[in-house]
Amino acid sequence: MVKVIRTVLELKQYQSEFFEGKSVGLVPTMGNLHEGHLSLLERSVSENDISIITIFVNPKQFGPNEDFDKYPRTLEQDVLKIEDKFSENILVFAPKDNSEIYPEGFDTTIQVGALTKILCGANRPGHFDGVTTVVYQLFSLSKATNAYFGQKDYQQVKVIEKMTTDLHLPIKITMMPISRDQDGLARSSRNQYLSASDRETALLLPRTLVEIESILKEETWVNSMIKINEVLESRIADKNWDYLEILDASNLKPVNENTTEVVLVGAFRVGSTRLIDNRKVEIKYA
Ligand code: PAJ
Repeated sequence: MVKVIRTVLELKQYQSEFFEGKSVGLVPTMGNLHEGHLSLLERSVSENDISIITIFVNPKQFGPNEDFDKYPRTLEQDVLKIEDKFSENILVFAPKDNSEIYPEGFDTTIQVGALTKILCGANRPGHFDGVTTVVYQLFSLSKATNAYFGQKDYQQVKVIEKMTTDLHLPIKITMMPISRDQDGLARSSRNQYLSASDRETALLLPRTLVEIESILKEETWVNSMIKINEVLESRIADKNWDYLEILDASNLKPVNENTTEVVLVGAFRVGSTRLIDNRKVEIKYA
């Protein structure tokens, strides 16, 4: 059964009636659901008595010149997609307006430190403060003990894990693999902004990550440096890249002799659309 709830009050009433003794899984989204989002929900459904998928285009995580206004809002189709795929108990919490989450006078920001200043945080100042502020609130409102996030937004997962550990939040974070289209592009609600030729250009992002991954799989980190730097230099000269970096996957810090797994992270602009992608690769340092 899928139940759609549009207010915090209704959510609280529903919880007091139906949540007693049940395990709750949370899947936060901004809607316009695709297979990637649904794979998170599928995992939640398999691990919890009740799953809550939230659909809220969070104004606090968009910069002034970003796509908040044009971000696709497709609640009806989203609910149909969920009903189509699931017969279990699923709650869709889709606040009817921003004041449900940020009522008049709301004045709290949850901010993680250094991790939010690099990569997407450097290109999108304040973005992760918006993410952690809403996610903290969704954790608290949902009373979930499990929450599911996609590897697609790798830095976001790391930031949320940090908030969860630092604040001792009683919730387990699970990171789910990236769901991709046939051509290799990671699924994203923003892909629909792309024309066919934009899409072809966008494929440089996943292809570059695959190219670097294949170098890393052949040689040790130290021996692969020259080849990798060649790829990085040839790509990053192209001003469409916001960043293209290889970091320690555990903490997004520079790779060192203790690193066992790296993450290749890229952000790439096609026209006004900004796409991100990443791959995790196990390495032998030397
Ligand atoms: P949104 O972009 O809607 O993504 C919701 C969740 O789906 C995130 O955890 C994201 O990583 C995951 N996801 C998106 N595309 C995916 C893909 N191709 N494969 C696997 N998982 C994918 O991320 C957000 O919303 C927001 O920042 C949010 C956490 C909801 C806070 O507002």
